[in-house]
Formats: sequence, structure tokens, C-alpha cells
Amino acid sequence: MGNNNENIQRRTDEDGVIFMSVKTEGENQTKSSDEKDITILAIESSCDETAAAVVRNGREVLSNIISSQIALHTIYGGVVPEIASRKHVEKINGCVRAALSEAGCNLEDIDAIAVTYGPGLVGALLVGVSEAKALSFATGKPLVGVHHIEGHICANYIEYKELEPPFMCLVASGGHSHLVYVKDYGVYDIIGQTRDDAAGEAFDKVARAIGLGYPGGPKVDAAAKQGDPDAISFPRAKTSEKSYDFSFSGLKSAVLNFLNQAEMKGEEVNKNDVAASFQKAVVDVLTEHTMEAAKEYGCKKIAIAGGVASNTSLRERLQSECEKQGIAFYRPSPVLCTDNAAMIGAAGYYEFLKGNTMGMDLNAVPNLPLGDRERRYHGRSSK
Ligand code: KG4
Ligand code: ZN
Repeated sequence: MGNNNENIQRRTDEDGVIFMSVKTEGENQTKSSDEKDITILAIESSCDETAAAVVRNGREVLSNIISSQIALHTIYGGVVPEIASRKHVEKINGCVRAALSEAGCNLEDIDAIAVTYGPGLVGALLVGVSEAKALSFATGKPLVGVHHIEGHICANYIEYKELEPPFMCLVASGGHSHLVYVKDYGVYDIIGQTRDDAAGEAFDKVARAIGLGYPGGPKVDAAAKQGDPDAISFPRAKTSEKSYDFSFSGLKSAVLNFLNQAEMKGEEVNKNDVAASFQKAVVDVLTEHTMEAAKEYGCKKIAIAGGVASNTSLRERLQSECEKQGIAFYRPSPVLCTDNAAMIGAAGYYEFLKGNTMGMDLNAVPNLPLGDRERRYHGRSSK
């Protein structure tokens, strides 16, 4: 199983953007020698990371370059879409060049160009989509459009070479909280999703309320390690007995009320206890729904994906529950859980194998639903 070893080379550019070259260890043989290798150049720019990667046969990462703008957005307390788009434009060519050069490739060695075309910030997505279209047009290489959340799920294939569908996957990121039954490559049944805030969004809002700043998830995670998770009893929302849906807005309001009441009474709040108690409430619900869903679907494999999947407590809880129930647990390294292009290369590979390539009319689709790719892409004609 995956080794979760991270080897990241970093440098900070003059403008504060952090350039990372990520090496993930593991066996590199992904095909028998008589089969033809498929090498994909992948591009991701849906939010505040500009990323490019070269991935062979969907699972072998030859290079993984991430240019993170987090530091630029921190002063505004969240991602500023206009700044994100402008930085993507500045960084994308450098990322693609670095990805090719670290992989020891040039464009002739590439079989297809994969790119995230939704969901995400429209201006940010457009930069990656335009870059991929330009490269595809100039080289004649096929263009593959990838759903960002499918990419997150496929990050598991990179680290766990033996993992094959079907499996249950909890996807928890800044914009999504989905329980997905992965039936086959590229075939997804969404069996639960958030009715309001995504889990990562709740982490970010609570972090802001307790003064930890942006990005909230990693800061709450760190603060929670110093706090008592049983200090405050926050609610765990159950949307209905039969549903695997999530709801985090009530929990977020409960934290805000707790902070307001303490302030009105002039009581000092222990931020670490609030962080730990809030985190426990989120982790309880995510874990419970995932384990129940795996049981109902008879899944012996559970995977996690998305930025929140790098949360220490969530990883530990699911690991221990899976051990108790004899279920194999798959958790990519934190750097493969947050946004990157290697995961887009993995998802793009399986789309490419199915012949799902796209034309020069590929557009960014900011609200692209999971499992509904073609209909949305051809949105107007399907009506
Ligand atoms: O998947 P991702 O990198 O971007 C989106 O597709 O949204 O997820 C970002 C989200 C943010 O809300 C961030 O606060 C959260 O993932 N996150 C975490 C942790 N690291 C990132 N949440 C909880 N604990 C963490 N360690
Ligand atoms: Zn993401």
C-alpha cells in the first residue's frame, strides 16, 4: 500500500508564490513491457494553485509541479478570483516547462493533454483550459477534459498502484463534500453530498471566526492538536435516517454563537479547545457516514480525497474504524489530497483510454456536476 512519503523541493518566487516540485515514491512499473505506455501532460488551475504534471499510464508520476498562491490570498482572508486568474496567466508556462523538463520529456513524447475544465473559479479554469487547447492545437495531440473532483478521487491510484474500483470514496474539499461510490473507472454514483457548506468551507469559516486566518483547514488541524476535543459539545447534523447527505452550516453557526456568547459574557475562549471540538464534530459525521455507506454497499475498500482528506484526525479515525471492520483504507499523501495536476493526469488517462477526447470548443464549466460531464459540456444542445 501507499507509503505516504513526501519529498517536496520548494522555493519562493519574488512575488511570494511558492514553487514546488513534488516527488512521490513508489514502484514505477505500471505496465508489462509489451504494452504501449501512455504519457499525459496534465494541467490544473481551478482555484489558487497553478499546476502541471507528467503522468505515465495513469499511475506513475514523472513530474508534479505546483505553484501555490496561498501566501498572496492570505492577506485577504480567502481566495481573490481576479488575483488568482492573473497569477495563473503569469505562472502557467513556467509550470508546464518545468513539468516537461523534470520528466525528461518534450511535447513529442506526450500522448495527450489533460486539463481541469470544472468545477472551479471560471477565470482561473479558463487559463488552464486555454493553455491546454493551445498546446493541443499546436502539437495535434488529443485534448482531454477532466472533472476536478474526479481528479481528487484518482489521486488514490497514484499512491496505491493496486487500487481498482469498486470502492467508496469520501471527497471533502473547499467546495465539495461528497460520498461517492466509484463503480468503475470514471463511473461514479454520488450517494451523499452537502446540503449547504462543504467541509473545507466550514473549516475555513471557523478558522476565520477564531482568528486563525487563511487557509483554515491546516490551521484548525494544528490548533486542535493542542486542544481538548470534548471541551465543547457542538451539534452533529443528521439530515435524515436514510440519507448520507451532510450539513455543516448548523455546526458553523453553533461555533459562531458560542464565540459571541463568550464575548458578551466577557469570558476568554480557549481557541485550541474550540478548534478541537469543532474538528471532532466534523470528523465524527464524515467518518460515520462513510463507514455506514461502505457497509450498505458491501465495500471492502474506502478511499479519501480532497483537501480535507489531509486532516490528521480524519485520517486517524477512518484508519482505526477501517482496521476494526477489516476494510482496506486508502489515503493519499497530503500533497496529493490538495490541488495538484498529477491527479488530473491520472483521471485524464482513464478518460483517454475510453476515447473521451474533446474539441477546440472545450470551455470552462464552473459548476460542472460530477458524473454529468458530457451533458454539461454540450449543455445547450441537450435541452
Ligand atoms: O481540494 P482542495 O485543495 O481545493 C478545493 O478543491 O477546494 O481543498 C481545499 C480545502 C480548504 O477548505 C482547506 O481549508 C481544506 O481543504 N484543508 C483542510 C486541511 N488541509 C486543507 N481541512 C482540514 N484539515 C486540513 N489539514
Ligand atoms: Zn480541489
